[in-house]
Amino acid sequence: MPPDILARKGELPIVCLTAYTTPIALLVDQHCDVVLVGDSVGMALHGLPSTLGVTLDMMILHGKAVRRGISRALMVVDLPFGAYEESREQAFRSAARVMAETGCAAVKLEGGENMAETVRFLTARGIPVMAHIGLTPQSVNAFGGYKVQGRGPDGERIMRDAVAISEAGAFAVVLEKVAESLARLITGKIPIPTIGIGASVACDGQILVTDDMLGIFTDFRPRFVKRYAELGRDANQAIAMYAAEVRTRQFPTSEHVFGDAPQKSAK
Ligand code: KIV
Repeated sequence: MPPDILARKGELPIVCLTAYTTPIALLVDQHCDVVLVGDSVGMALHGLPSTLGVTLDMMILHGKAVRRGISRALMVVDLPFGAYEESREQAFRSAARVMAETGCAAVKLEGGENMAETVRFLTARGIPVMAHIGLTPQSVNAFGGYKVQGRGPDGERIMRDAVAISEAGAFAVVLEKVAESLARLITGKIPIPTIGIGASVACDGQILVTDDMLGIFTDFRPRFVKRYAELGRDANQAIAMYAAEVRTRQFPTSEHVFGDAPQKSAK
């Protein structure tokens, strides 16, 4: 539950990964404290160029799928672009729908000082909120790209963002692509856990997009992602082998076909 994550401030680092489907949720749930149904689903599964085209209905559909694979981790669902910025009431309606329809325990939204009032409104009404500051991908056009944050004067703004959303009642905050020294300062200053993505080991926990750390996309290699597997490369080799074996009639063999006599395994 969100209070358990809050209680981990300064303790054992909090392990978080994304999931968008039941099979991946089943895998990550065994090892993670938090499973995020991120709006990165737009790029990772739907081939969108950014998170901006992701809708509330998409998040709910993927949230329902992930829920079926979660039995122990805290499940958090992203509120997508356009579903919460207009007013705190709009944010409440979207968050309430997401929670009721997916069964998640919390929502995540992007923004700091500008979203503090919304975070306060939601948390006062029983909706646990994880915030997301630093590089906030839904504002990529305003940022002018996916640049590192907090290396210059913008550091003061990011610190104010962190303090504002913490005071507003968020139970944790994602720091994305925040320079290490600032991430360390923020983590030392606010009483809620910081979850880093490209924000150094100084944070109270870490999150990565599962598809990135598994190496699904062979040509996407951001510096902050450590690849723990090369599934894209391995899948490519497997598919190429299957194609070659079909063309040369090496597959299927007698092992994979059904003869006339009943066999032990008829599946
Ligand atoms: O959408 C997402 O996957 C995220 C993480 C990268 C933090 O917001």
